[in-house]
Amino acid sequence: MSSVLVIGSGLGGLLAAVRAADAGHLVVLVTKSVLPESNTRYAQGGIAAALFRDDSVDAHVLDTLRAGAGLCDPAAVRVLCEEGPARVRDLIRFGVDFDRDDSGVARGLEAAHSRSRVVHAGGDATGAAVEAALVATVRGRTAIDVREHTMLVDLLVDEGVVRGARVLEAHGVQQDINADAVILATGGAGALYTHTTNPSVATGDGVAAAYRAGVSVADLEFYQFHPTALAVPGTPLVSEAVRGEGAVLRSALGERFMLAAHPDAELAPRDVVARAIARQMERQNGAPVLLDATALGRELLQTRFPTITAACRAAGLDWAVSAIPVAPAAHYWMGGVETDAWARTSLPGLFAVGEVARTGAHGANRLASNSLLEAAVFADRAVRALGQPWPLRTPTTPTPHILHATQPENRSHPLAASSIQGLPHETAITAPSADFGGVDRSTLQQLLWDFAGVHRSGTGLSTAAAALDDWSAPPANSTSVTALEDRNLLGLARLLVAAALAREESRGAHYRSDFPDTRPELAWSRSQSLELVPAQ
Ligand code: SIN
Repeated sequence: MSSVLVIGSGLGGLLAAVRAADAGHLVVLVTKSVLPESNTRYAQGGIAAALFRDDSVDAHVLDTLRAGAGLCDPAAVRVLCEEGPARVRDLIRFGVDFDRDDSGVARGLEAAHSRSRVVHAGGDATGAAVEAALVATVRGRTAIDVREHTMLVDLLVDEGVVRGARVLEAHGVQQDINADAVILATGGAGALYTHTTNPSVATGDGVAAAYRAGVSVADLEFYQFHPTALAVPGTPLVSEAVRGEGAVLRSALGERFMLAAHPDAELAPRDVVARAIARQMERQNGAPVLLDATALGRELLQTRFPTITAACRAAGLDWAVSAIPVAPAAHYWMGGVETDAWARTSLPGLFAVGEVARTGAHGANRLASNSLLEAAVFADRAVRALGQPWPLRTPTTPTPHILHATQPENRSHPLAASSIQGLPHETAITAPSADFGGVDRSTLQQLLWDFAGVHRSGTGLSTAAAALDDWSAPPANSTSVTALEDRNLLGLARLLVAAALAREESRGAHYRSDFPDTRPELAWSRSQSLELVPAQ
């Protein structure tokens, strides 16, 4: 029996904890907030899987590869799509009550899927239903030691093997937790950007800690912007499934601008729609575009999308009567801690599952509703690989999307002060607070939004890099969650911007106006970065 430390309590962390406990391991599960708080909880559209007779694993694989714009690892995609249906059935066994219609389990259509295959629960409350079922399951396993309000600070590494993690406990004391294996499931980092669909806990703690521990991270330039967040404070998500049901996008003047942007119009891949919306917003002086769902009728909107209906109502909008204002928002990080097909990272004993991981299943642009699926598939695999021999790292072809840990935490760039003078966004440098040596978190978020967002350029990215170089991170021994989050966000912002500068092309979610074309030679080409050892 070995000890397993699971960090994070979204689908990936909860499922890994349950599976590991059921396999007889001693499990400690730590989470920064309360157990149910995670990105999973806010997922709306559902879970994509080849569950229906008119669908196939091959079709799901093909759709995923197409959306990924040449950067998916085909082996990871196959694992995802082949094992997905079994993991959805597992969720049903854990108590997730997927919606039904006359034909059985109901399914929705989302962008870039060649057929309807997205199962959902509570209409548009799939993540909340999954989270609730798994939280109840975890609470029912007395073998899992759950520690809420406990934040990852750093990984403990000894002689090239992970030995556990240093955490900040609720009462403000840093403590070490030793373990034979660590499963990182800390999610993404929407807090890097001004506008995000993520909850505030999404500060990339796992990616940052892994990088500091010398673990390989990859594809950090690929941040997915969801095309349609409601353009009101808090930017609540408006699921792609709404467009799947027939809603259309209109300019401020009421024109359907997506018809000219892509043959699939509103159901084009997510990156295409987000960019088209951003361009349209530029044409209309930054005003949000409109999502017109009025043709769907009040009853369907209310029953199929109760969460969005409530968000509209809270904002004083009635989407059954008028089109609603929407704009892109940071949604999902395709990049993260590099793993093999068993969720193993480059550090023996350390696994990464869910959004914190870069499995290669999403490439440059994740297919809608593949994220919960990925968390379930690779959490299950991580637990099956516990105790198995760790693979030897094989030589990799150096590509711009692989970054290895070499950067010190605090650097100073001699050009930083002068190169940010005269920026059009004066908020980027002037906010007076102590978090980054005189600059506050919203300043960092605005900097990334402006220069490393939907549209990027070499000049803008260099400006951002110089500004970030000039800031200093709070110390590792801080006893404040906010300070430790800021330390992570600054490190990640530097990495993301460096990766975006290094990728001199446009591909998937990464668009550079100075390199608008895709360069075929920069597609994913390694056979495998980590040698695969079959796990049971
Ligand atoms: C959505 O419902 O549009 C989000 C689903 C996803 O991010 O895959």
